[in-house]
Amino acid sequence: MDKSDYFFELYTGLPRGGPGDNESTRRAYNCMENLPSEPLILDIGCGPGMQTLELARISGGKIIALDNHQGFLDKLKKDANNEKLDDQIEIRNQSMLEMDFEDGTFDIIWSEGALYFMGFQNGLKKCRQLLKDKGYLAITQAVYLQKEVPEEVIQYWDSEYDDIDQIENTMELIKKVGFDLISHFKLPVSSWMDNYYDPMSKRIIELEEKYKDNETALKVLNASRDEIEFFKKYSDYYGYEFFIMRK
Ligand SMILES: C[S@@+](CC[C@H](N)C(=O)[O-])C[C@H]1O[C@@H](n2cnc3c(N)ncnc32)[C@H](O)[C@@H]1O
Repeated sequence: MDKSDYFFELYTGLPRGGPGDNESTRRAYNCMENLPSEPLILDIGCGPGMQTLELARISGGKIIALDNHQGFLDKLKKDANNEKLDDQIEIRNQSMLEMDFEDGTFDIIWSEGALYFMGFQNGLKKCRQLLKDKGYLAITQAVYLQKEVPEEVIQYWDSEYDDIDQIENTMELIKKVGFDLISHFKLPVSSWMDNYYDPMSKRIIELEEKYKDNETALKVLNASRDEIEFFKKYSDYYGYEFFIMRK
């Protein structure tokens, strides 16, 4: 097994693949007006699909749930079956870099914590193409929450994820790509902890026991523990912002 196998083992079984919560998903959805009764929705980088299931419950529409990690899609499929939401959810194992939908296909595109895998600006442009006229895009994206950010935080994000920016700059970029920004709000700290870092902490402890003599696995687990501690120390300076925009 290599690093990525241990990484996916850590994530498998977590309720989410990133920060978020159903209340925030509903809040973003409720910003959208004049939707068709059964909107066609694309959920890019759906992961285990907590938000996909919530979208199915609240929209009454059809959702294409796209991710390139089969383990997450298996969990979503099982949960959708259990809740009898499987008629509404079409699961697709495909890279977001290779999407071949026709332009103007979707009423709504959703992407919580995943659009940056396409490069943030590039992802915005691609979503705009795939949306119908007046279609909506809802995303969460990492942002700095203050003007002055400690050097340690800047270095951490530079090494992880270079699309992070100040909220105002992200808003500018959204407008530059041609969207109308409808609303935006910060994900609460609880949505990092409750469905993501708290369950991850428990899983780290279990896997540390399982892999106590495995140096590669322990490195992966230590890095994740460091990430959680870093967030606890610096969550005043960075977070995820929900942006809801219209074509
Ligand atoms: C931070 S997780 C977010 C998952 C989910 N949206 C959530 O909020 O729980 C990012 C997701 O993007 C997926 N992903 C990464 N690169 C991808 C790609 N090229 N194509 C499709 N999915 C990708 C990962 O497998 C993962 O499920």
